[in-house]
Amino acid sequence: MSLRSTFGRRLLAAAAATLMVAALAAPASAQFIEPPSPLVKQRADTAIHKHTDGYYYMTASVPDYKRLELRRATTLAGLGTATPTTIYQAPASGPLSGWIWAPDVKFYDGAWYLYFSASPSSNTFDQRLYWTRTTSANPLTGSWSAPARLTTGWESFQLDPASFEHNGQRYFTWAQDSPSTNYNSHMYIARMASPTSLATAATEIARPTYGWEMEGVAGVVEGPSPLLKNGRVFIAYSASATDSRYKLGLLSASGTANLLDPTSWSKSPVPVFQTANGVHGPGHGSFTVAEDNRTDLLVFHARDYANPTPDALRDPNRHTRVQQLYWRDNGDPFFGQPLPTGMTKPGIRGQHSNKCVDDWERNTTPGAEVRLYDCTGSNVQAWELSYVGGYYRIRNQHANLCLDNWNSATALNSDVRLSTCNGVAAQDWTILDRGNGWFSLRNRHSGLCLDNYGWDTANGARISQYTCNGNAAQLWRRG
Ligand code: AHR
Repeated sequence: MSLRSTFGRRLLAAAAATLMVAALAAPASAQFIEPPSPLVKQRADTAIHKHTDGYYYMTASVPDYKRLELRRATTLAGLGTATPTTIYQAPASGPLSGWIWAPDVKFYDGAWYLYFSASPSSNTFDQRLYWTRTTSANPLTGSWSAPARLTTGWESFQLDPASFEHNGQRYFTWAQDSPSTNYNSHMYIARMASPTSLATAATEIARPTYGWEMEGVAGVVEGPSPLLKNGRVFIAYSASATDSRYKLGLLSASGTANLLDPTSWSKSPVPVFQTANGVHGPGHGSFTVAEDNRTDLLVFHARDYANPTPDALRDPNRHTRVQQLYWRDNGDPFFGQPLPTGMTKPGIRGQHSNKCVDDWERNTTPGAEVRLYDCTGSNVQAWELSYVGGYYRIRNQHANLCLDNWNSATALNSDVRLSTCNGVAAQDWTILDRGNGWFSLRNRHSGLCLDNYGWDTANGARISQYTCNGNAAQLWRRG
């Protein structure tokens, strides 16, 4: 083989390697997730729809349940300051004169729809499902139709509509009282014939089966929140009384399954999101994406205190909150724990140390150490978790460098440092769900987990990587 051809082959190999690393480099447009906390005060059951026009559209239950409102903004933070438009005001009498609950906003076939439940003032719990629509491109200025019933096949307490599109079909999910049990609600799905009617009979996909779905009530599974990802269909739902005992559960189905077959659905045996860190009764939200159009976000409501007054429905302080939603090693969503009110720059906080992963001495050069330090909510402890190819690339806001298995080591207690973000396996991390909103971070190259080495709780404590063992030195949460 001539020298020239050898050199040429090496040149091509080098070019290919460069292209490959460039291709692996974290794609642009990921972002730090730092919405105001709470996002919108006194709005519960919040639905946020990010539309093709670049606006976020938001609707929710209002404290007196007497109107449908809609607001929009080009940023999530903007929703907190946007002026809502009243779309419908409950009349003084009739079937919609009582309480209006949990609207969902969708854009189907060139028209905007609000789906919601409403009741007569004579019996505010006698809820029925309704829809209204406008064909105006800007739904805040359009004229909306008189609300009309969306019928489910039988008459009983029904609420919390949420629809979604999958494989060219539209599906409608909701909660409804079943004549077969004494539970408050079961959960159902049906295929939609049109934006205002169902094509199939209701298929029950969940009913209360666990104690954590029956706290303070006979049994509640409500607030279905659909989420499509990784070729699967997920439905988060809310369980138990709407006070501190309110929490999220999760249903999942294969994306190729018959979603109208109840056996296609499996339910997490444990709640996936619940009261913690001073945030009480997190639940009934929706899912959206950040301004980068790729970071998944969980929208939910919660209160800042344990005991609502005068009761869990008429206490007005269920505030809307937004935080990042993650994806764990098996492709399931990982909810973590509610971030404390007011926290906009969540750190990566260790369970054993209660300290945060810190760009030590604010170093911005590759090779910078990360150590544990008191959680400060500052940019040296702020991290962008960018989901690429099933792994997270974890970038420090101050250093603009990524969490790195230094020198691609495999030895126990080897260094984890910050280095130029390059998308190689040493900078790819997997979230392992360790229960109750705690997670471990496993390095793709070493298979080892981020570790509070030596269980040291002092400021400056070493962080390295060690055999994944799920103990407290390897448990982390955002916050
Ligand atoms: O917020 C009003 C109702 O209370 C919602 O429809 C339901 O999800 C919650 O229990």
